[in-house]
Amino acid sequence: MIFAGNFKTNHTRQSTALYIKELTQKTKAKKEEDRIILFPPLTAIDDYESDFTIGVQNAYHIQNGAYTGEIGLEQLDEFGIKTILIGHSERREHLGESQELLTQKFNFFKEEAFEIIYCIGEPLEVRKKGFEAVMKYLLAQFDGIDIAYDKLIIAYEPIWAIGTGRSATVEEISSTHRALKNVIKETALLYGGSAKLSNIKEILSIAGVDGVLVGSASLDADGFSKMVLA
Ligand code: PGA
Repeated sequence: MIFAGNFKTNHTRQSTALYIKELTQKTKAKKEEDRIILFPPLTAIDDYESDFTIGVQNAYHIQNGAYTGEIGLEQLDEFGIKTILIGHSERREHLGESQELLTQKFNFFKEEAFEIIYCIGEPLEVRKKGFEAVMKYLLAQFDGIDIAYDKLIIAYEPIWAIGTGRSATVEEISSTHRALKNVIKETALLYGGSAKLSNIKEILSIAGVDGVLVGSASLDADGFSKMVLA
């Protein structure tokens, strides 16, 4: 299973270093095949001594250049970063990242052989329209994306379940993952959206779920370690 923690705009450089130490200690008993990927804020990116994969929540699709406020490949290379999150709903919504821009990012980082965790997810009004509408919406988020890329992990994150404390139901996750797997085949598929200690076992037992992308519940190392060991 894959346990990915997305810190978003939380934690500092100092607290991330402490977090990684604590999580390393507390996940010593994890299964060998279980993998932990962490996405700290950019200021906390470093070449940490740990078994965890450190990735970035965002970067610009450029080596370097005049892109005020962004970081590019050169800055990632300095810390040996080879994993990136692309398409998170918060970047699509709040930062206005279009499918076209996401495609450019995807292609650039694919070209650089990055592991890409690509997020898709529907808003509540689409979910309310029914399953067919949901699938149509989700599949449109694959436009321009090479879903056969061998270093790709997909995260299904219904927007209405993110940060709300209300995860999707087992039935909603199960039917959506099954339909997505028909399309993406062997590619790993994570679920995200209010995954936490109280529902992790249930979520991971669903067929077609290869792991979780966790926001809020990943912020505390002790709590996240319990999810990994659950
Ligand atoms: P959440 O966030 O676990 O706080 O719902 C998940 C995510 O946005 O990746």
